[in-house]
Amino acid sequence: MIGKKITTWAIILAAGQGLRLSSQTQGIPKQFLSYNNLPLYYHCARTFSHNARIQGIIFVLPKEYLAEEKSRLHELEKQNSLGLPWLCVAGGKRRQDSVYEGLLALPPHCSHVLIHDSARPFMTAKLVENICTALEAGHAGVIPGLKLIDTIKQVENNIITKTLDRSKLFAVQTPQGFQQNILLDAHNKAREEDLDVTDDASLLEHCNHSVFMIEGESKNIKITEAEHMHLLNDNIATRPCSGFGYDVHRFGQGRPLKLGGVLMHGGMEVMAHSDGDVVLHAIMDAILGLAGLGDIGLHFPDSDVEFDNIDSAILLHNVLQLIIEKRIKITNIDVTIITQKPKIGPQRTAIVKNIAHLLNLPHERVNVKATTEEGLGFTGSGQGIKAIALVNALASE
Ligand code: CTP
Ligand code: MG
Repeated sequence: MIGKKITTWAIILAAGQGLRLSSQTQGIPKQFLSYNNLPLYYHCARTFSHNARIQGIIFVLPKEYLAEEKSRLHELEKQNSLGLPWLCVAGGKRRQDSVYEGLLALPPHCSHVLIHDSARPFMTAKLVENICTALEAGHAGVIPGLKLIDTIKQVENNIITKTLDRSKLFAVQTPQGFQQNILLDAHNKAREEDLDVTDDASLLEHCNHSVFMIEGESKNIKITEAEHMHLLNDNIATRPCSGFGYDVHRFGQGRPLKLGGVLMHGGMEVMAHSDGDVVLHAIMDAILGLAGLGDIGLHFPDSDVEFDNIDSAILLHNVLQLIIEKRIKITNIDVTIITQKPKIGPQRTAIVKNIAHLLNLPHERVNVKATTEEGLGFTGSGQGIKAIALVNALASE
């Protein structure tokens, strides 16, 4: 291939009916299921777009969904631009008919093509890279395959007729890469001979072209049956994020001292517009911080009478609603209270339990510590109290 200009496009097959899964999907073809807020078939497009060798994408869609999905793709492109030319065509009755429609839609200068089942959303950019590299070495066809783990038997009417030599058997996946003209010729031949196949490599084999196998990916599963549905939930991509919060209140006549929503013994008071709970305020700021949502002053300004002496647990509830909307899940929280008095120890467990209750977390995911500043500074002189909080969470991508 050296010296020859290589132009590679990808064809994403999304024109099936997903019949084996239809009881789980209310009849919606599986490629349109939402996974991490995007339709399954779009995940494959994004993976292809991460490889600079892929220069364009053809989406093959069911005829009856073509117009709808085309406009959905235009909408998706506004936020997630693939950065590649793409177009949509209607598929055919069988998978191989859909591939054929995709091949006819390729631009004339396209020399190579990767065919991929949109029902395999977990394919990686690395696999795309490996297929392209092997194609560039000059193979007519390159496919990913995996060694079989189980012993394979041939069976007829429940009776074993043969045990196959497992060492020579592989389970093959997509994307499968081909020289475009060779694959098109093979498809034309199959049409003439009325050949029925389940993958494109079979057509090259039928034409006596050699097909090269590279190692596939065990996670590159094809969503096919009910037992695969959990993969679309379990595999939700999660991004760890952390937020830091800090709050101070001056001791003085005003509000009875509450920490983490718990009224403290000893009758101390703080001056505040709200209820002056430094612990919940630090926690809220940490949560807003990890979600990129500013701070409590922005959401609950102390110039607003609505927040006068308001219970901080109510404010926290509002903050939690904001992060639920952003699909963020708090995983653990660590708070330090810094004050000379009162002693936190006797009420520490009550504070932990209340914070855990307010955040709907198990107790062991909430930690509360307390320290003095050795008589130094404003906490040391007993003028005020402060709290710092670190909150960790998982956000969806
Ligand atoms: N496919 C296609 N056109 C068809 C049939 C299948 O584009 N006429 C696509 C599917 O959308 C899928 C891939 O080929 O991404 C692999 O096929 P399969 O897993 O069999 O999907 P379906 O045919 O949709 O499912 P089922 O066989 O359960 O009906
Ligand atoms: Mg099928």
